[in-house]
Amino acid sequence: MSLIKLHNVDAFYDSAQILDNISLEVNKGEKVAVLGRNGVGKTTLINTLLGIAKVRSGSIQIQGKTFKNIRSFDAVRNGIAVVPQGRRIIPSLTVEENLLMGEASLRKGNWNLNSVYDLFPILRERSQIMGTALSGGQQQMLAIGRALMSNPDLLILDEPSEGLAPIIVDQLIDLLNDLVKKGTSILLVEQNISFILNVVERYLVLSKGRVIEKGSAIGVTVDNLKKYISV
Ligand SMILES: Nc1ncnc2c1ncn2[C@@H]1O[C@H](COP(=O)(O)OP(=O)(O)O)[C@@H](O)[C@H]1O
Ligand SMILES: [Mg+2]
Repeated sequence: MSLIKLHNVDAFYDSAQILDNISLEVNKGEKVAVLGRNGVGKTTLINTLLGIAKVRSGSIQIQGKTFKNIRSFDAVRNGIAVVPQGRRIIPSLTVEENLLMGEASLRKGNWNLNSVYDLFPILRERSQIMGTALSGGQQQMLAIGRALMSNPDLLILDEPSEGLAPIIVDQLIDLLNDLVKKGTSILLVEQNISFILNVVERYLVLSKGRVIEKGSAIGVTVDNLKKYISV
């Protein structure tokens, strides 16, 4: 079953066209990566699902429903959760309050404050401090925990490894693979190719707002893909 399906999407910020004829489908159980250099439109692709970038032609379906003028709560209520680039922890809220923001979708499932704390015990220990007082790696856990609180079918992560130490990135790989085993599908936007190859089974490459390459990640090496991200 298709969780998200973009078909021939042209997307804009005001009059600036950023995405050109993008098609992308992620089905239940799949793990898919989008890669490409800075500024090619990776975040904009995610923003089309949140109504932040405007779709002028083509279509967007979530769980088989077509959305015109989609808004961010349409996505989250239909099982799509985003861990945004830069994590976007709300500075005026505690760790726990940040997590509770994710509950707003009112979707029922296995994820709640307690199960997220079981997954990330450090967040339970630090639940009453301000979210932005956490370390970078802990803020990434918080951003993922907040997304899980909406019990998503598809977790979309926008450059989650950015700014994290390699050992934390390794933990993130294990975490994502565990989430997949529990039934969560993953759309991973990344520039860290070894991270991508340790998590996904297929990938798309964006350049200047277009898909210029796609394929299976099985048997692919870091060397095969690094031309798509190095300057
Ligand atoms: N809110 C915005 N308004 C106008 N242009 C934007 C906005 N956000 C990003 N852009 C432009 O859209 C292009 C793609 O950006 P983005 O999707 O953030 O790329 P990536 O995530 O691949 O680095 C860039 O040229 C960027 O400057
Ligand atoms: Mg980006």
